[in-house]
Amino acid sequence: MPKIRFTVSLEKSLLDRFDEHLQLQKYQTRSEAIRDLIRENLVMEEWSGNQEVVGSITMVYNHHERELSQKLLETQHDYNELIISTQHIHIDHDNCLEVIIVRGHSRAIHDLFTLIKSTPGVKQCELTRSTTGIALE
Ligand code: NI
Repeated sequence: MPKIRFTVSLEKSLLDRFDEHLQLQKYQTRSEAIRDLIRENLVMEEWSGNQEVVGSITMVYNHHERELSQKLLETQHDYNELIISTQHIHIDHDNCLEVIIVRGHSRAIHDLFTLIKSTPGVKQCELTRSTTGIALE
């Protein structure tokens, strides 16, 4: 897609801080950094606007915890329409890592995430908010 050049004016102090940010984040040009900021904002808008999104839910739990594995399995079956794939890794004798890849409306994904996160015995649970990429072309 052709690129369009435009001018931005902003306070020097803000630009200096932005340039520091570019260095830390290893951006080669301001343009690439600004493109990423725009994309990040558009993705956050997709999530806050209940759009169709993709993401992943990562959790760690102890499978010896009473009825926990069963509860987590039932939750995943209740939300099977959102779940593309689940990967389970046995970290050690007690702990399991599970990554659930999801696609669907953001509100439903968030419901699934909060349900898993609040399940007693789940030690840690993170939601990664990503995008189908369609709106970023
Ligand atoms: Ni396991």
